[in-house]
Amino acid sequence: DTGKSVSTSRLVIHQSISSNDQNGFAQDVRPGLTATPKTLKPKYLYDPLGSLLFEAICLLPEYYLTRAETEIFERRAVEIVAQLPAPITVVELGSGSSIKTRLLIEAILARQPRLCYQPIDISETILEQSAKQLLEDYSGLRITAHAADYTRGIASIERRDGEKVLALLLGSNIGNYMPDEARELLRQIRNALRPGDGLLLGADLKKSRETLKAAYNDALNLTAAFSRNLLLRINRDLNADFDLRQFKHRAFFNEGQSRIEIHLVSLTEQIVNIRGADAQPALQVEFQSGETIHTENSYKYDLEALAALAKATGFTPSRVWFDSGGRFSCNFWLA
Ligand code: AVI
Repeated sequence: DTGKSVSTSRLVIHQSISSNDQNGFAQDVRPGLTATPKTLKPKYLYDPLGSLLFEAICLLPEYYLTRAETEIFERRAVEIVAQLPAPITVVELGSGSSIKTRLLIEAILARQPRLCYQPIDISETILEQSAKQLLEDYSGLRITAHAADYTRGIASIERRDGEKVLALLLGSNIGNYMPDEARELLRQIRNALRPGDGLLLGADLKKSRETLKAAYNDALNLTAAFSRNLLLRINRDLNADFDLRQFKHRAFFNEGQSRIEIHLVSLTEQIVNIRGADAQPALQVEFQSGETIHTENSYKYDLEALAALAKATGFTPSRVWFDSGGRFSCNFWLA
């Protein structure tokens, strides 16, 4: 924690991303773009514009994930929160706008008068906006937020005597982690919990290649803008000269790995200069025509893989709910 915090009587925001290190952006971009194949970490997609673009993606007709998970909460919120005895506190990793979470918050506030909600998100702007909105709408709510990446945030869960913790990892956020990273993250969550606490894990399911492909290749090209914004961010934050028009979005389903892969494809042979990439003199990155930067994976799970993941990370799967289309799963696991 840098000690910087915004506080009103019901809201505390801890900021543990210092603005000059930007959570390691410069230190990560250099090795990522000098490696073969070139890669960038997906967490850097969520600058203020990237976070807004992602919120917009959630409204697209092709991007069924958010609607499917929302449908589950609309039908099952009461049953979901009843998996733990009251009173509970809620910790959410990657809370974003917290829109879906409202359905759970309402179900919780219907059975206990007060709730401490602890959202963790990499984007401080979105945390601030959504926290203020939530506090206006729910008088029984108190918020302790962390602008941090997940692993830094979960170490600081608060709980009062007699409270159980309900941890939320929604929206298939788990899908953006490589399998070994996903296990590591879930183990860290498990370590931050006590026996009898719970985790609600939203995981997108394996399905037809066409449906998956369309969800990441929308007709409005918002997903392409979301990906290409990463280059805009490098230009701005690391003083680089990417020509965005020379990079194209590509997303496809890799069946063998059960994941959507997202790449930025260089349309030509070109050299990009990155002056602020932790290097003296400037880092020069060469691209062949057709060469890609791998920016994201979005793993699609099946029930077997989810059961194995729970087992490997110290959780006991206890309930699973699906949307009516059977596209998305919400898994309740006991610690
Ligand atoms: C945040 N995450 C679960 C999204 C996904 O579906 O993997 C990120 C995303 N990337 C492109 N579209 C959505």
